Amino acid sequence: MDKKLYVKTYGCQMNVYDSMRMADLLAPLGYRAVDAPGGADLVILNTCHIREKAAEKVYSEIGRLRLLKEESARGGRRMLIAVAGCVAQAQGEEILDRAPCVDIIFGPQTYHRLADMVARVARDEGTRLLDTEFPAEDKFDFLPEEAAPQGVSAFLTIQEGCDRFCTFCVVPYTRGGERSRPAAAVVAEAERLAAAGVREITLLGQNVNAYHGHGLDGGEWRLAALVRRLALVEGLERIRYTTSHPRDMDDDLVAAHGDVEKLMPFLHLPVQSGSDRMLAAMNRRHRADDYRRLVERLRRARPDLALSSDFIVGFPGESGKDFAATLALVNDIGFAQAFSFKYSPRPGTPAADAREQVPEPVKDERLAGLQQLLRAQQDAFNQRAVGSVMPVLFQEAGRHPGQIRGRSPYLQPVHAVAPAGLVGRTAPVRIIGVTANSLRGEIAGTAGAGAAHRMVEETACA
Ligand code: SAH
Ligand code: SF4
Ligand code: F3S
Repeated sequence: MDKKLYVKTYGCQMNVYDSMRMADLLAPLGYRAVDAPGGADLVILNTCHIREKAAEKVYSEIGRLRLLKEESARGGRRMLIAVAGCVAQAQGEEILDRAPCVDIIFGPQTYHRLADMVARVARDEGTRLLDTEFPAEDKFDFLPEEAAPQGVSAFLTIQEGCDRFCTFCVVPYTRGGERSRPAAAVVAEAERLAAAGVREITLLGQNVNAYHGHGLDGGEWRLAALVRRLALVEGLERIRYTTSHPRDMDDDLVAAHGDVEKLMPFLHLPVQSGSDRMLAAMNRRHRADDYRRLVERLRRARPDLALSSDFIVGFPGESGKDFAATLALVNDIGFAQAFSFKYSPRPGTPAADAREQVPEPVKDERLAGLQQLLRAQQDAFNQRAVGSVMPVLFQEAGRHPGQIRGRSPYLQPVHAVAPAGLVGRTAPVRIIGVTANSLRGEIAGTAGAGAAHRMVEETACA
């Protein structure tokens, strides 16, 4: 008999990927995904610990689930609750104590044991399990093949964990040390995805350009070699990767941006701050000018490359002058989009104990200032697209009848009135307007498309 599985995912794209793999693991036990927790047989919260707000959400969600679990019990059904992901890894014992309604707690490196854990807890009403080990075995060796993908764009984890230990970040503690999957496994997964209709893959890793997997030729492959091989996969049209560290951007990867056509001209390259003093305190191991030079090299290789980044404001000790250096860097680079956050002290990380914490109102003010500048850059970037023609990979139906939605090479969402039959395909689109976060376009004749696309490439980085 079918059982209902509800998975709620927080945090980064890797959690999205992991949640899908959890569903793959549970399918043989009869679990089918549903889109609401009410009446589910198993609820999994796949959590994120990156900032305090993200972690706190989990406890309020567990509170709501407790009520649903009691309601199920009154109806004579048993609802299992599992907490997975980075909060489970960091605070497993605490969840066990604080939330008696939670049956299973497991971390990002033990979810391949999920089916066994669920079976054990289902058998015995009194059992609660905590498994936040960093096991010797590699979970990827134990995962079943992924179910047929739903869309034309898919995530593919190639690398996990991080050895960089930025002083603000929990990731090295929650995901563990850096590991790369062998190229053969990645290529096989990409081939299966492409055969099932996927046209775009985003290679995932906490520090994805630190990739150093076992290559198809027996040697060690860095990310550029893997990208070049994936570009040969039939049916695959677009390759992206996220998230990168500026220090791990090697020459071959920079070159790949120029010579691998399928590698899309959009790069998320977190810089965090424009102040050398803050970058040193963050243990980023590069200076602001290193970042400027790296972007120059990337743009030399691929002139229309659009950049995205992450910023932290109010890191301990950040002065007005440090913050001004961040604004200066943003002005120098020109971002197509970016994420910015107030520093959030995370238990167990070095910066959390620093004496000079920045007062909340100062953080608020700096965040507002930075976001205003980034917003203006994003709007200008989108505005520059108007009048050009770009290839759009259509992914799904739009909000309005007759409309479909896709992405530009620069990751901008594009809406166009076009036949539904174009979903899953790439078509040239003339951009005719912008809305808050997306572009509006109409299908363009193929003839002028090439020339117009070149025009975008020349103007987008101006
Ligand atoms: N793997 C990613 C990091 C994921 S976290 C990477 O290496 O870039 C995404 C972003 O969250 C980080 O780039 C950083 O800007 C932000 N972040 C991480 N820890 C934070 C903290 N303690 N407070 C505020 N923002 C944080
Ligand atoms: Fe965290 Fe990224 Fe730094 Fe690694 S490189 S510690 S994941 S911010
Ligand atoms: Fe969050 Fe863990 Fe991803 S802390 S950002 S879910 S690696």
